Amino acid sequence: MGLFLVSVEVSVLNGDRCLREAAEGVIDPSLRDFEFVIIEDDLTDDADSRLDCYQDHDAPTAIKDSVMSQLLKNLLKERMPYGLREASRELLHEWNLFCVHRRGVKEAPRFLQVLPVKLNLGCGPVRKDGWVNVDLFDRGADLRLDLRAPWPFPDNSVSRIYSSHAFEHFDIAQEVPHFLREALRVLEPGGMFDVLVPDTVRPLKAYGDPSAAYWAIVLARGWHPGCHTQLEHINYHFRQNGEHKYAWDAETLARVLKNAGFAAVAQRDFDPTMDPPERFLSLCMVATKEIQ
Ligand SMILES: C[S@@+](CC[C@H](N)C(=O)[O-])C[C@H]1O[C@@H](n2cnc3c(N)ncnc32)[C@H](O)[C@@H]1O
Repeated sequence: MGLFLVSVEVSVLNGDRCLREAAEGVIDPSLRDFEFVIIEDDLTDDADSRLDCYQDHDAPTAIKDSVMSQLLKNLLKERMPYGLREASRELLHEWNLFCVHRRGVKEAPRFLQVLPVKLNLGCGPVRKDGWVNVDLFDRGADLRLDLRAPWPFPDNSVSRIYSSHAFEHFDIAQEVPHFLREALRVLEPGGMFDVLVPDTVRPLKAYGDPSAAYWAIVLARGWHPGCHTQLEHINYHFRQNGEHKYAWDAETLARVLKNAGFAAVAQRDFDPTMDPPERFLSLCMVATKEIQ
């Protein structure tokens, strides 16, 4: 790693007591700025099971994770300028997401015993029977994965991808191209990517027109909490407190899907049998992977 002031190396040979003390030491929140390296000879020392009492699975990794989290939390407690504190907070957040994703990757094979599968990506609380429901933050998802990272699904193993109001959470420069590359890789030929996003044409057309039906719907449904002026609503649509990273209309979405390599791209109507009812104003599009 090379980033820490102190490196603690523990040989596990006959080291039950030493290992326990060392492990408890590194979890101690008063310690900081060090790494903990556990050296196991794989034959006799059985470090994994000795560390099991600290976490059910993957104990050495769990300890490293808790050390990393502790270091980042300590950084946050330091008197740092605003920018550095925010960057540390973001780093801790990303580290925790990485840990969640890594656990999801380990669990993925359980959902891949019968192929092809159907993926509901960014499912949130809207889960679909017979689909593998994937989300990074929602604890009720079948699999918690960060879709900005490599997807743990084999090539051509997915017959359909559905994603409602998640695609706008990815940035256009890196994350959208990654998402679409992975979608094309895992879809079998002829497989469909069915995507719903907020339709940005609506708020833009309504701006400056207080009588536009859009404002009545947004207010009645409480879609943009804390917004009063039309521009506050527009800002919310675009940014949603930093969660939204790109705004889509039909022309732009179709162009990005085609440029990514999807063969047939077509807008479709909202389908109440398939789509969440509160998403009725969405832009809905289907893109198909070419059959070769
Ligand atoms: C607005 S919710 C949509 C939930 C549901 N599909 C719907 O239509 O109501 C967006 C979802 O995307 C998920 N999400 C955001 N970034 C993600 C990422 N990097 N990887 C996986 N899921 C993510 C969020 O956790 C959230 O549940």
